[in-house]
Amino acid sequence: MISIRSVGKTYRSRHGEVVDALDDVSLDVREKEFVSIVGPSGCGKSTLLKIIAGLVPASGGEVTIRGRPVREPFPDVGFVFQNAVLLPWRTVLDNVMFSIEMLGLPGNDYRARARDLIELAGLAGFERKYPWELSGGMQQRVALCRALVHDPSVLLMDEPFGALDAMTREEMGLELLRIWEERPKTIFFVTHSIPEAILLADRVVVMTPRPGRLARVLDIALDRPRAVEMEFDPRFKAYSEEIRALIFRPRRERVH
Ligand SMILES: Nc1ncnc2c1ncn2[C@@H]1O[C@H](COP(=O)(O)OP(=O)(O)OP(=O)(O)O)[C@@H](O)[C@H]1O
Ligand SMILES: [Mg+2]
Repeated sequence: MISIRSVGKTYRSRHGEVVDALDDVSLDVREKEFVSIVGPSGCGKSTLLKIIAGLVPASGGEVTIRGRPVREPFPDVGFVFQNAVLLPWRTVLDNVMFSIEMLGLPGNDYRARARDLIELAGLAGFERKYPWELSGGMQQRVALCRALVHDPSVLLMDEPFGALDAMTREEMGLELLRIWEERPKTIFFVTHSIPEAILLADRVVVMTPRPGRLARVLDIALDRPRAVEMEFDPRFKAYSEEIRALIFRPRRERVH
């Protein structure tokens, strides 16, 4: 479904400074797969997501979605940013409908779907409220609905729950899985939380410090549907330790 082939990224500033953000990243992702990405701050996770989204060009290599090279944003791809940026003058429903307007799709065809999603996200009755009348977690769910309303087959999420407290975050993760099981799609999920990465994903991609490379790709063999109690499963602990060792191992010991 998504093929990332030897993707590299070098940023060049106007003053001639050069930052190697990504180096030789290759990964194939199946249709309807849930992939988490973890790695130290500044290792190029957001850069990788933006390249897949067609928001930033790669310096080398190529990303294809269903065989088509990504050179600009595809309408079939949804993006959730770290901070829920809702439009304060629009109601919940109108915020969700914003993506439909931006894509130039007919509003009447999508309004019922927007309402269904809002309900699915546990926000029934809040359609006419404004963002400032909602809690942080509720705003995050509205942003999620907005990314899902045109039913993209690919969803790119950059630390979508980063601003939430631990409990709301866990709840949101399971909420996301529920929506994903109901309307399966291919998800890339960037997070700083190792347990969150494991709990949600089919595979966890661990990246090295800058320039970001793939340190390891772990298959998560836990049953679905996932539940918070799985964190006590010995396999969960083993995954967690493996990832932690990869991220915190001193650089010179790492085998390239
Ligand atoms: N537009 C840009 N211009 C120049 N350098 C950039 C730009 N965007 C990112 N970088 C640099 O590329 C590197 C990777 O950044 P990126 O945002 O992809 O990291 P990240 O893994 O998402 O980090 P974090 O976990 O802190 O969000 C960093 O060193 C950053 O300074
Ligand atoms: Mg980032």
